[in-house]
Amino acid sequence: MVVVYPGSFDPITNGHLDIIERCSKKFDKVVVSILYNPSKKTMFTVEERKEMIKEAVKKFTNVEVDTFSGLLVDYSKAKGISTVIRGLRAVTDFEYEMQMALMNRKLDDELETVFLMSSNQYTFLSSSVVKEVAIFNGDISKLVPKVVNQAIYKKLKGGL
Ligand code: PNS
Repeated sequence: MVVVYPGSFDPITNGHLDIIERCSKKFDKVVVSILYNPSKKTMFTVEERKEMIKEAVKKFTNVEVDTFSGLLVDYSKAKGISTVIRGLRAVTDFEYEMQMALMNRKLDDELETVFLMSSNQYTFLSSSVVKEVAIFNGDISKLVPKVVNQAIYKKLKGGL
């Protein structure tokens, strides 16, 4: 089975990577797809995010990195994928995730969303928290892949 793991990934964290790794063991192929949303301000361009994810997942042979814009249902249909993966960290994620999953199924009743509980050590982790800690010079080296750690500090030095 081929699954899509969509998200903003601004930037990818070790929590995302954990979900990707677990999916790569369970499914034949995982397409990690980055939403290109020009109206949302991001720290990294979609190309930068794609390159960082590619580097971080290169050890998984059945993981592909892609981008999409518009509706996830349209993208999934075009790719011939009918299963979406999302990670759940805590109850606080639940309402938003349920709304999104139900809306996607309303738009396309073939599209199922499968939730993976995040691993214990990553329940506190998010891209926003990582950026905030980095902005104030905290250590994020254990929270993100090496390529992201380097890229964030390079970006912050150059000014956002
Ligand atoms: O990492 P994120 O920001 O939580 O990911 C959210 C994402 C990209 C999965 C979601 O915003 C999305 O699929 N956007 C595409 C637009 C869409 O299909 N919206 C309908 C579902 S509410």
